[in-house]
Amino acid sequence: MKNETNRVKTGIKGLDEMLGGGPYEGSSLLLKGAPGTGKTTLGLQFIYNGITKFNEGGLIVTFEEFPQKLYRDALSLGWDLKALEDQNKLKVIFTSPEIFLNDLKNGAFITKLVAKMNVRRVLVDTVSYFQGLSKEAFELRKLFTKVIYGLEKENITSIFVEESCDSGLDAVSVTHDFSYVVDIVVSLRFVEVEGSIKKAILVMKTRGSEHDEKIREFTINKRGIDIKNKFESVEGILSGNTRKVISERLENFFVKKLK
Ligand SMILES: Nc1ncnc2c1ncn2[C@@H]1O[C@H](COP(=O)(O)OP(=O)(O)OP(=O)(O)O)[C@@H](O)[C@H]1O
Ligand SMILES: [Mg+2]
Repeated sequence: MKNETNRVKTGIKGLDEMLGGGPYEGSSLLLKGAPGTGKTTLGLQFIYNGITKFNEGGLIVTFEEFPQKLYRDALSLGWDLKALEDQNKLKVIFTSPEIFLNDLKNGAFITKLVAKMNVRRVLVDTVSYFQGLSKEAFELRKLFTKVIYGLEKENITSIFVEESCDSGLDAVSVTHDFSYVVDIVVSLRFVEVEGSIKKAILVMKTRGSEHDEKIREFTINKRGIDIKNKFESVEGILSGNTRKVISERLENFFVKKLK
């Protein structure tokens, strides 16, 4: 069952701060974002940190067609997934949503992973593939809830990646919106600031906990996600219509005048 006293550290410094110390153990986090915003990178970093910093086994479930891409992308960030699999600290499963759902219904699947590898963290990339399970929105939500419960029962903390496009405050899902079902929603998005594209991260909800309401800038470098401070002097990020805040404009005006 979900443990609302223990927090799990993602090990991504700024993100743990934004989440009031980290997600609760056994909770579910939906990570939304447009293509290339860094969803897989953040998810992999959560799993990799779990294994290397906190001694917690990890499971990666992916429905993508090209499994080798995942290993290659992780390696480019210095994370050797194959080596972790060899050490029995990680399991990577390439499957279909149907099979994964059946695996979870059969509780033995996850219980075995917990017993054998101390799996405490799961990354599912991406839940957008779940849409193939049903055309009925209600039915789809029910199936997704089953997945969440299957993991929550074992007190496993999960990140579900969801493809979405940004539209103001709502990160609108390309396929289906699972935001209502999960405990935490984090949105990644591109923003244009003074002619260049930057990446922004925002915590949209955390059940039963306070969270940072600031929109922070982040970059991806060869060590993964690096979360910076909030966007200084810029507003209108959620609407995609950024502009300098008035105080700064006034400041510029006065400084210029003084010169
Ligand atoms: N090793 C690296 N060094 C620097 N930047 C990197 C590295 N690996 C990835 N990136 C950056 O991360 C971006 C995409 O990351 P990622 O694959 O996590 O995005 P995504 O949101 O999962 O995309 P998609 O929806 O297409 O799966 C790349 O476009 C690149 O800018
Ligand atoms: Mg991805």
